[in-house]
Formats: sequence, structure tokens, C-alpha cells
Amino acid sequence: MTARIIDGKHIASQVKQELEGEVRRLKEKFNLVPGLATILVGDDPASHVYVNSKIRTCEKLGIASFHKQLGSDVTEAELIEIIQRFNADSAVHGILVQLPLPGHIDESRILMTIDPGKDVDGFHPINVGKMVVGDTGFLPCTPAGIQQLLIRSKVSIEGAHVVIVGRSNIVGKPIANILVQKQSGANATVTICHSRTPDIAEHTRRADILIAAIGKPKFIQAEMVKKGAVVIDVGTNRVGSTKEGKSILAGDVDFDGVQDIAAAITPVPGGVGPMTIAMLMLNTVKAAKLSQGTV
Ligand code: GUN
Repeated sequence: MTARIIDGKHIASQVKQELEGEVRRLKEKFNLVPGLATILVGDDPASHVYVNSKIRTCEKLGIASFHKQLGSDVTEAELIEIIQRFNADSAVHGILVQLPLPGHIDESRILMTIDPGKDVDGFHPINVGKMVVGDTGFLPCTPAGIQQLLIRSKVSIEGAHVVIVGRSNIVGKPIANILVQKQSGANATVTICHSRTPDIAEHTRRADILIAAIGKPKFIQAEMVKKGAVVIDVGTNRVGSTKEGKSILAGDVDFDGVQDIAAAITPVPGGVGPMTIAMLMLNTVKAAKLSQGTV
């Protein structure tokens, strides 16, 4: 069996096309232009690539973007003040502080400063709480993108055993909370494995849907996957660079080995990554609509 490739780039462009129409409608009907503020601290090359890509996507969709680049020596107080200014700015509907932040800044205090109504990353504890109890808030972008990938590629989630490897606050923990909800596009049985799980393969081999978010290249090998499983690879490990200086990415899944076992698999790049940005745009448009009561 050779697995069907779940084309995240294609599905993300469908989502973005839908959003482009919605952005046009909001402008025509309400003179409303969704706005996203991005804040980048320091000069981590990968973070620069991500943030630039978010800004470019805003431009393509007609979303206004406001970017603040800060040196890695910025103080926590200065960063908080910048966020508060964006909180008060009615042209800004979404605020994103790119993570990770330098060690001298308390990440959790920064995330708590963002107005929960503008928290398009879904990292504020209010939105995390809403996600856990199944209320409407902002879902974090990568997990929301994974759910959309599964739904739009017609993978049955209801009753499936989803095994997640990785327990980060950005991917592992939220995707578990999203897929376990008593809601359509969810209702899964969920297992989370992590670095202290004694025999990870024993769990992954039982997965109908296996989500790899470990941060280790090719961690998931063919013998860890059940025949016919759907495999979602969240890994974006930099394993080298091209002559032109572009990063070479490897997923957390040994794609070549696993594609002979799985029923469907996401590639890296071109799987989960493009969905993250599409969901950020979706959350920004949603924030703009909520701000005007036009949802
Ligand atoms: N760093 C890695 N992933 C993310 C993300 O989804 N949002 C933000 N703000 N930073 C990140």
C-alpha cells in the first residue's frame, strides 16, 4: 500500500480563498478591514521566516498587518507596553507575539497581557480554558489546522483512536483537547505519549490517527505504525541548508518507510505548516467580525 498524500498546501489555499472572499465582503458591507499585529523579538532566522510568511499572507488576503521588530535586549516592561498599545488600537483585531521569547522575558506574563479577544494564537489562559470546556474562543493555529486537514481530507475522526506523540502547549496538549470534544469533527479517543512514556511504540501501533509532534527527525518509524493508519507529521526539524541558504526540513516521521504502511500521510514541508498560517488568518478575520458583532 502507498499512502494517500494529504496536501496541506492545497487545503490551506482553499481556506485562504474562502477567507479572501470573506475579507472582501467585510470591506464592502461594513467597511471593515481585519488587522493583524505581529511582534518579533530578536533575530532567530526561523522566526523571521515564519513572521514574514504571516505578513505576506495578510497582504495577499487583504488583511492589514502591523509589524513590530524588537531587539533581543527589549525589556519585559517595554514589550508589555507595546502589546497594550495594540490592545487599545481599534485597527488591530489580532495580536501575535512570535515564540520563543528570550529567556529574560516571562512568556506566560506576555501571553496574559494580550487582550483575549485579540488572541489569535489562542494561547491566553482564557482561550485555553474555553478550548478545554468546548466553548467558542480562539483555537491555537497548528492544532486547529490539523483538525481542518483531517476534516477536509475526509478522515473519520469520530470514534477513532488518536495517538499524539508530544505534549507541548502549542501542539500536543491542545490537539488532544480539540479532538476529544463532544462535537462534530472530534469525538475521538485520545492518548498522549511523551518523553517519559515507557514504550511509545506500544501506543502508536494502536493509533487510527497518529499525530507526531516530538521535534525529533524521523522519530516515527514504519514499525511504529498500524497498517492503514492516518499519519500527521507536525515536525519541522532543520537538518541542513541548501547552497542558497534555505533550510532543509525533516518531519518527525520517516516518510519513506511509513508511506508503505499508512493509508494517508502529510508531507513535510507542505502538510501541517501551511495550515497553521491559514488558521491564523481565519482567527484574525473572526476577531475582526467579533469586534463588530458581525459574526
Ligand atoms: N512559534 C512556533 N509556533 C508558533 C505559533 O503558532 N505562534 C507563535 N506566536 N509562535 C510560534
